[in-house]
Amino acid sequence: MKKVYLIGFMGSGKSAIGKRLGTLLNLPFYDMDTEISNRTGMTIPQIFETYGEEGFRDMETEFLRDFQDEFCIIATGGGVAMREENRKIMRRTGLVFYLNSTFRDIWRRISTDVNRPIVQRSSRHELESLFRKRKPLYLQSAHFKVETTNRSLNEITQYIASQIIRLRNE
Ligand code: S3P
Repeated sequence: MKKVYLIGFMGSGKSAIGKRLGTLLNLPFYDMDTEISNRTGMTIPQIFETYGEEGFRDMETEFLRDFQDEFCIIATGGGVAMREENRKIMRRTGLVFYLNSTFRDIWRRISTDVNRPIVQRSSRHELESLFRKRKPLYLQSAHFKVETTNRSLNEITQYIASQIIRLRNE
C-alpha cells in the first residue's frame, strides 16, 4: 500500500478523519500544517506573515517532495491541490481521497477560526468563491470522492478504510 492523502477545503474534517484512520488501520498519521509548523518552529499565521502565502505554498511542495514515510495517512492543507506539481506527486505516490462538504457546513466550522490566515483575511462571500474555484481541482486530484454531509466522522473513516482494505487485497 502507498500513502493515503486526504484533501479538501478547510474545515472538511481532514485532520479529524486522518487521525481516526491512522488508529483504525494502525498507520502513522501526519498533518501537513503541523509538520510544516514543527519544521519551521512557527505557527501557520506566522509563516504567512513572514514568508507570504507563496512562501508557505513552497513549503507544502517541499514537504510533498521530501516526505519519505511509505505507509501512512497524510491530512493535507486545503490549498495543496492547487499546484499541479502537488497533484502529480500525490497521485503518483498514493491514494487520494477528497472529502466533499457543503460550503454551509464548512462555514459553520471555520468562520471563527483565528489560526487560518485565509479565513482571517476573507469575507464569507470571498471564501465561498474560493471554495467553488477549488472544487474542480480537488476532483481532478482525487482517486475517490467521499461525501461527508450527514455522516459522522466514524462513518466516513470506516468508509475510507474499507476502500483502502479493498484495494490492498486486490
Ligand atoms: C489553507 C488551509 C489550511 C492551512 C493554511 C491554508 C488553505 O489547512 O494549510 O491556513 O489555503 O486552504 P486546513 O485545510 O487544514 O485548514
